Amino acid sequence: MANYRVQTPQRAYDAIVERGCIARIDEFLPARAGRIFVVTTSDVWGLHGDRVKKALGAREHQVLFFPGGEPRKRLAEVEALAEQMMEAGGDRGSLIVAFGGGIVTDVAGFLAAVFMRGIPVMQIATTLLAQVDAAVGGKTGVNLVAGKNLVGAFHQPLVVLIDPDVLHTLPEREYRAGLYEIIKCGVIRDAELFRVLADDRERVLAQDPKTVDAIIAGAVKIKAEVVTADEREGDLRRILNFGHTVGHALEAETGYTRFLHGEAVAFGMHAATTIAEISGRLSADDASAIHAVIRGYGPIPAVDGISAANLLARLGSDKKTVQGKVHFVLPVTIGEVAVVSGVAEAHVLEAIETALGQAVQA
Ligand code: GLY
Repeated sequence: MANYRVQTPQRAYDAIVERGCIARIDEFLPARAGRIFVVTTSDVWGLHGDRVKKALGAREHQVLFFPGGEPRKRLAEVEALAEQMMEAGGDRGSLIVAFGGGIVTDVAGFLAAVFMRGIPVMQIATTLLAQVDAAVGGKTGVNLVAGKNLVGAFHQPLVVLIDPDVLHTLPEREYRAGLYEIIKCGVIRDAELFRVLADDRERVLAQDPKTVDAIIAGAVKIKAEVVTADEREGDLRRILNFGHTVGHALEAETGYTRFLHGEAVAFGMHAATTIAEISGRLSADDASAIHAVIRGYGPIPAVDGISAANLLARLGSDKKTVQGKVHFVLPVTIGEVAVVSGVAEAHVLEAIETALGQAVQA
């Protein structure tokens, strides 16, 4: 079992990485919790809902289903869930248990942030991506047509339960999509984690329990440290966006339907690594090691029909843009990154074109 403390001005809580920890839900519920709403998808509930039901025991709860899928991560779905909560007697004393992947944890977290101006949420992550990233750190929100997560709130949970046992039902593609966020953690802050991903690829892909637990714990530790240092992304937290600037553009450009978030981040990490190399910040050896590890967990979906110029044009509407300036998180060595603005447009275009080429070869 590993516990990582997240200490923010809003709330201090644990992210718990432990096989079987779903059974511990009741420990983290306030003794006098009001009505409990479990927000999930029918797929996740069908696979693992019995564990939650059992853990909630005699606690009365209502299960609300969210359709799932990135295109449904919209304000209209939040409104529909809030209406259902009202119909079921939800009030300021209610509590939400978000039970699912990153889309569920974002949507249910946002619902908790705005319902009655804010009620508590417990995050129980069931995909690798949610376990190592989305469920930890309090970012919640929904997409607009203009871009990803453009409406949202920081709403820190009561606790994050990360039970690697649930991953055995995860489709292999979604598992690999989560691995890209772990690669991200290695590149930005932990050369040893990167080394494990590079050297133990077979054990990682085979979901060897010891290896999986170790890499999840490594990523959650980094997330907890970074969020503790900078809850609101004023400074250090921006490093978690490695691969996300171009990744978000790719997701928006393809209508959130072709790429899983982690896959888009993989593409974006290729692009950022190339920018770092051609702008003289990263050695060719480190760049090729990063590209190789990303490729090693591929492939990502085909990129045909996607134009580098269109992706470049989309970078301006990402919310990481400050006063019109696009920021990139660029590796300077494995385990360390710099946040850079004012990257030459020619370098960005060249890097996106190279990433499109790399994706075709993968
Ligand atoms: N997913 C990036 C962050 O939580 O800041």
